[in-house]
Amino acid sequence: MLEVSDLRYTYPGSQRPALEDVSFRIEKGEVFGFLGPNGAGKSTTQKILTGILQGYQGRVRVFGRDLGGLGQDYYNRVGVCFEFPNLYEKLTAEENLEFYRRFFGVPTEAPQDLLRMFDLPVGDKRTVGQFSKGMKMRLVLARSLLNKPILWFLDEPTTGQDPQHSVKIREYVRDKKREGTTVFLTTHDMHVAEELCDRVAFIVDGRIVAVDAPRNLMVRGGRRSVRVEYRSGADRISVEFDLDSPAGKAKFLETVRANDVETIHTLEPSLEDVFIKVTGRRLADK
Ligand SMILES: Nc1ncnc2c1ncn2[C@@H]1O[C@H](COP(=O)(O)OP(=O)(O)O)[C@@H](O)[C@H]1O
Ligand SMILES: [Mg+2]
Repeated sequence: MLEVSDLRYTYPGSQRPALEDVSFRIEKGEVFGFLGPNGAGKSTTQKILTGILQGYQGRVRVFGRDLGGLGQDYYNRVGVCFEFPNLYEKLTAEENLEFYRRFFGVPTEAPQDLLRMFDLPVGDKRTVGQFSKGMKMRLVLARSLLNKPILWFLDEPTTGQDPQHSVKIREYVRDKKREGTTVFLTTHDMHVAEELCDRVAFIVDGRIVAVDAPRNLMVRGGRRSVRVEYRSGADRISVEFDLDSPAGKAKFLETVRANDVETIHTLEPSLEDVFIKVTGRRLADK
């Protein structure tokens, strides 16, 4: 569906490349995520893949053709959701969607359906200028689905949303995947990556450091261990066992056998733990 080889990009006037030797491929129907901290190069990648930034080095092939050779037809088939809303603030949500839908040379969704789907006002006089940041973002999401895209680009889709809307947006992504839509999404949120993505690329300083299914990354990246709590007289004792060592495994079994066990917890690393281990960097400033 999409194949990127040795992609490099330096912003005009910048000393350092924003992207270096970036290669990956996305299969049809896959949700592929770029997970990385601020400034890693996620938005830059999306801007190149959606034709907004040109002058890159390397090769990008989409739908089996070079990106450079794809014209208007490309925009009929992809949906693009940016991190920063660019909307007509003096128009209503419906007017914005009615305006944009005219640019497509393919059948489009009814704006009202999309607005309802994203919990936005229908038949309302309010202009977009009066919307909250979260509402504007959801309107950009709605707009990105107007042309029923088969390839959907989402830059930080849940950033700036309250928890309920964040949950809903994740559901929409899963719904689209079920319908067969291929998705490229960027995020600095390990939960989004873990929950939605079939495969995730770790990206730091313009380079991809690892690519795999979140589950595989988590298994590869961490020790397998368990914490056991048991009673000993009036005391509650808590001990951790490393299941990757034979001695740890034996002690774990012995402890379970010999004691009145109250709880057992597996101590799996989070995707962020693995990210830190692989890249030496955190996903967000804390
Ligand atoms: N318009 C621009 N001009 C110059 N440098 C930029 C521009 N946009 C982004 N950058 C730089 O490129 C790098 C990657 O940025 P970006 O792709 O926006 O990262 P992310 O989306 O992962 O936070 C950063 O170092 C950022 O400062
Ligand atoms: Mg970004």
